[in-house]
Amino acid sequence: MSNPFTLRVIPPGSPFCNRTRELEELSSHVRNKANVVLFSPRRYGKTSLVKRLQTDLERDGFFTIYGDFFMVTSVNDVAERIAKSVYTVLHQRESLLEKGVRYLKTFRTFRPVFKPSADGGLSITVEPVSPNLSGMDLLDKVLEELGEFIHSQSSAGTHVAFDEFQEITELKKSPVEGVLRKHIQEHQASYFFIGSRRRVLLDIFNQRARPFYQSAIMYPLSRLPHDELASFLVDQFKMGGKKCGTRIAEKISDKVFQYPYYAQVLAYNVYEVSGKTVNEGDIEEGFEKLLASERYGYEGIVQGLTGPQVALLRALATDPTSKILSTEYMTRHNLSIGGIQYARKKLEELGLIEQHRNVWRIVDPVFGTWLATY
Ligand SMILES: Nc1ncnc2c1ncn2[C@@H]1O[C@H](COP(=O)(O)OP(=O)(O)OP(=O)(O)O)[C@@H](O)[C@H]1O
Ligand SMILES: [Mg+2]
Repeated sequence: MSNPFTLRVIPPGSPFCNRTRELEELSSHVRNKANVVLFSPRRYGKTSLVKRLQTDLERDGFFTIYGDFFMVTSVNDVAERIAKSVYTVLHQRESLLEKGVRYLKTFRTFRPVFKPSADGGLSITVEPVSPNLSGMDLLDKVLEELGEFIHSQSSAGTHVAFDEFQEITELKKSPVEGVLRKHIQEHQASYFFIGSRRRVLLDIFNQRARPFYQSAIMYPLSRLPHDELASFLVDQFKMGGKKCGTRIAEKISDKVFQYPYYAQVLAYNVYEVSGKTVNEGDIEEGFEKLLASERYGYEGIVQGLTGPQVALLRALATDPTSKILSTEYMTRHNLSIGGIQYARKKLEELGLIEQHRNVWRIVDPVFGTWLATY
């Protein structure tokens, strides 16, 4: 039997823990054509949730589009990714013949290019039809065409998800936000803006001077409920042919603070080291393995930071506080006043620290555990 735990985005239809309330609420927002900012720290399950939501919506006759702005490099790239997201869904849905006609009718800025992919299917890229059109003009045109396309749909409605949306802020000095907003507000669709760098994402929607100001519902995604997660783990172990009692499953849930990704990683490792029945020792061994593999990522994060940023991060790992800038806190942790304010701002932008009920703390508790001990 194979390991039933996964470290990847969960495909719709595969075992999923809870999120029933979230699916209901989000689905209702889509039906109301509301725009939503779906945010959480990294690896809480935003993408898995939205893919599931879109599958449900499609079953109800909606047309859904999923675009990803991860590491977007230019305005042309934004336009290209939007075009690609539409072609991808058309490709999945329609016969090649119908597609040919529709492509030509609605999208004139980009044409799709099909290439055989490693898995034996076809992968899609897009290329601009007119090399003279680029930058903001190209983006403007693509969004206009997207609007026409949405308008021409006879489906129950259209849902557009833009994942890692905060990455558009990396394109400094270009009015991408303004152009996106101008078109999106005209589109008869529900847009989801998804992301994990909370400060950067929320600033797009909550700063008065910015185009997207107050144009969407803020929807934070939380960790998984402890009881639900424990029973999910019990079921998954069972599916993999092993017995894991509720008490042991609860320990796994506690050990990773109900963090979806770490729950999967820890359970994955526990499954690997355990016999027919999971015991407490397996949890410790599994956790060691988890840290051993995560540490490369953690080291990468720390290496990208400055001295004051690392010092502050380490202080918060062992001692969360509401008074970072107090003399007492700084003395206790050997922090110097110079640079600490900037360090706090930068760490928050990177999504590494957050203020929760007034207290500053590390966002990722397992990273915190590692920081406190290395
Ligand atoms: N409801 C769930 N039940 C069980 N496991 C989950 C659930 N949601 C997410 N996971 C697990 O959490 C991990 C992260 O999921 P996903 O990639 O969807 O999160 P994300 O928030 O989009 O992450 P990122 O911020 O890196 O884009 C995956 O390993 C997935 O298996
Ligand atoms: Mg994601």
